[in-house]
Amino acid sequence: MIVLFGATGYTGGRVAQAMVRRGLRPILAGRNTARLGALAARLGNLEVARADVTDPATVQRLIGRNDVLVSTVGPFVRLGEPALGAAVEAGAIYLDSTGEPPFIRRVFEDFGPAAQRTGAGLITAFGYDYVPGNLAGALALHGLQQPVHRIEVVYLVGGVGRAQVISGGTFGSAAGLLTEPSFTWRDGSIQAEPTASRFRIVKVAGVEYPVTAVGATEHYALPRLAAAAGLAGLSEVDVYLGRRTPATRLAQLSCHVVPAVLALPGARSLVGAIGTFAQRFVADEPDPGALAQVNSHVVATAYDASGAKLAQARVASGDPYQLTADLLAWGAQRAAEHGVSGPGALGPVEAFGLDSLAAGAREVGLRRC
Ligand SMILES: NC(=O)c1ccc[n+]([C@@H]2O[C@H](COP(=O)([O-])OP(=O)(O)OC[C@H]3O[C@@H](n4cnc5c(N)ncnc54)[C@H](OP(=O)(O)O)[C@@H]3O)[C@@H](O)[C@H]2O)c1
Repeated sequence: MIVLFGATGYTGGRVAQAMVRRGLRPILAGRNTARLGALAARLGNLEVARADVTDPATVQRLIGRNDVLVSTVGPFVRLGEPALGAAVEAGAIYLDSTGEPPFIRRVFEDFGPAAQRTGAGLITAFGYDYVPGNLAGALALHGLQQPVHRIEVVYLVGGVGRAQVISGGTFGSAAGLLTEPSFTWRDGSIQAEPTASRFRIVKVAGVEYPVTAVGATEHYALPRLAAAAGLAGLSEVDVYLGRRTPATRLAQLSCHVVPAVLALPGARSLVGAIGTFAQRFVADEPDPGALAQVNSHVVATAYDASGAKLAQARVASGDPYQLTADLLAWGAQRAAEHGVSGPGALGPVEAFGLDSLAAGAREVGLRRC
């Protein structure tokens, strides 16, 4: 049984459609039964279930052992833990759409060990954030024989104009992050760092992009993959997010100014509060025409200790919300039919295997280039 929690949201609605396109009949769960009923009727009389994270028992009742729970109820830092806790308690398979570093850290460090005891399999951030980088990173590592010192993963978004291309839910989740800690992988362990504290310019195919470091699942998953492949010494993993801009000079300046401003006392809280206030002016749904123009390239590069490039892999896709919806639908189906590699918090490649994930990614339009 597959349960989709958050089906009435923007991303949840797209996941529901993607699941139905695959021939699945998920149970649609959420707090608003009228909206759930309307969506379920539109998608072919699906079953619905009422659950509200403010009453965790209602979330626990959604699933049992070996069921698959897909959650798009966010912001995850504020609303995500009841679904995660319910999956751990039930020994179920759990996938979500988060991209929030503090939540990812909780999944791997707190809920993962508990899941190993109950048999639950937790696959967090199984969307645009952060499947492409995990896949590209695994492809770059694949077949290497020599020690890898550092992997750098860069997510680059292009085709963005003036129209809104993120959902209100994504804006709200991102706005809350400035005051939350992030993390990276240094000297062979996870280390905390402030969100948006590292900006830089990266050059890809001769074009410069301003990017900022982010805490992602690659920091947990790629060192494990490297170790499993017998590649010693992966002591640094960096993940950067950036977007194409014509104003590279301004972006270069912002690399110095933004971290300095955010380091001022109270600046993060102030900027976070402005973001929360600004959310009321952001539409719930992105502009569909503008979203259709968005493209993304994700590049993973492995280096040795001298800084020499050992390998590189690149994947590309279109609309990140469509990719997220299609990946979650693919992952839920695969997990329901074949299970996942084991209990605990799992990276995407670890959960499904490189060949299977690469085939699934191709199927949903995440192509190697
Ligand atoms: N990883 C990625 O690449 C990626 C891609 C897309 C989205 N996301 C993330 O996914 C999350 C959802 O995004 P979205 O665009 O779908 O946002 P959204 O439209 O605001 O949807 C949020 C969902 O949470 C539900 N919810 C809120 N409070 C609840 C409660 N107390 N109990 C049960 N459900 C509750 C909402 O229900 P109602 O409909 O009843 O309000 C809605 O279904 C965000 O955190 C976003 O950042 C990540």
